Amino acid sequence: MNDRFLKALRCEETDQTPIWIMRQAGRYLPEYRNARVKAGSFLNLCKTPELATEVTLMPIKRFPLDAAILFSDILTIPDAMGMGLNFREGIGPTFSKKLKNLSDFKQLPIPNPEEELRYVMDTIKLIKRELDGSIPLVGFSGSPWTLACYMLEGSGSKDFNHVRKKLFSNPDEMRYLLEKLTKAVTDYLEAQINAGVDAIMIFDSWAGILSDSCFKQFSLRYLKDICGNLREKNVPKIVFAKGGGLWLDSLAKLEINGLGLDWSIDLARARAIVGDKIAIQGNLDPAVMLTDPQTVKLEARKVLKSIGNRKGFIFNLGHGITPEVDPRHVEVLVDTVHSYR
Ligand code: CP3
Repeated sequence: MNDRFLKALRCEETDQTPIWIMRQAGRYLPEYRNARVKAGSFLNLCKTPELATEVTLMPIKRFPLDAAILFSDILTIPDAMGMGLNFREGIGPTFSKKLKNLSDFKQLPIPNPEEELRYVMDTIKLIKRELDGSIPLVGFSGSPWTLACYMLEGSGSKDFNHVRKKLFSNPDEMRYLLEKLTKAVTDYLEAQINAGVDAIMIFDSWAGILSDSCFKQFSLRYLKDICGNLREKNVPKIVFAKGGGLWLDSLAKLEINGLGLDWSIDLARARAIVGDKIAIQGNLDPAVMLTDPQTVKLEARKVLKSIGNRKGFIFNLGHGITPEVDPRHVEVLVDTVHSYR
């Protein structure tokens, strides 16, 4: 196996810097767009193991990436809780069921990942078979806080004001929901590990909209619980808290092997705070990928230079790659990272 990615997560020396890209199987690839048309919808892609496997492998076939990521979505959990998930073109995710108060939260079932989310486990097994030990597979989940954002707002939002209001007006209700989601996320990640993923990543995409105290009470606390719950599982864990640069010291105290960083943070500063026992993953601004090959090369080298000692470093973008990116720029990026000395 090409184990650069796993070695980096153990903070061991690697021959080349490992790289993978958030949303690497996505709309910037013409073959992905075709597959989605054929499947009829994004959710259909996710729920059909053969198609989800095919899509997972698309970027791997094109580029010498050092890890694959399960093709799925963080919103599979609320979907499995019966919230009626839909992805609408140009609108993003929406739910048909509205959650208002504690009695709604109480009615939400905690999904059995081997039943309602069976399709994810089947996909993982199929991908592992297809990868045949060539590169590691990353499984993932949304964090309780980020899932709650979508579930309570009923869709995406610029500021999730409705949810943030609730943190102050009904903190106990929010805690009830977040605890339930902590159990659901733990069970889901445990099942993914049992199905064969080589690492797990928790996306806290909306950490950055919280105040310091709210982040600690309503997000970090549950990340800590999940990592603790998975302690016995011998699989490396990565936490990505977008906008979490102010909380690096707290994040570094989690039982994790890697910390995903967005592009707002200088990597040398991050390394100084995080220490050398936790791998750093990041953090090229995804907007760079929209430019041209020279700029991609130049900016990627700046990121590589900023981390200094590359032991325990995994190159990634600071957030997902966007649909408008020219796939040739990804080729340049991967080559630049692998050939950097
Ligand atoms: O990284 C990968 O390649 C694996 C697949 C993956 C997807 N979503 C595929 C996807 C992963 C890891 C996710 C996680 C996810 N989903 C997050 C956390 C990461 C982040 O971006 O912060 C969030 C917040 C979501 C929720 C979500 N899913 C939104 C807001 C949207 C709409 C975005 C948009 O641009 O329309 C999605 C849809 C989605 N998830 C797509 C893909 C490839 C696009 C679907 C399509 O139209 O084909």
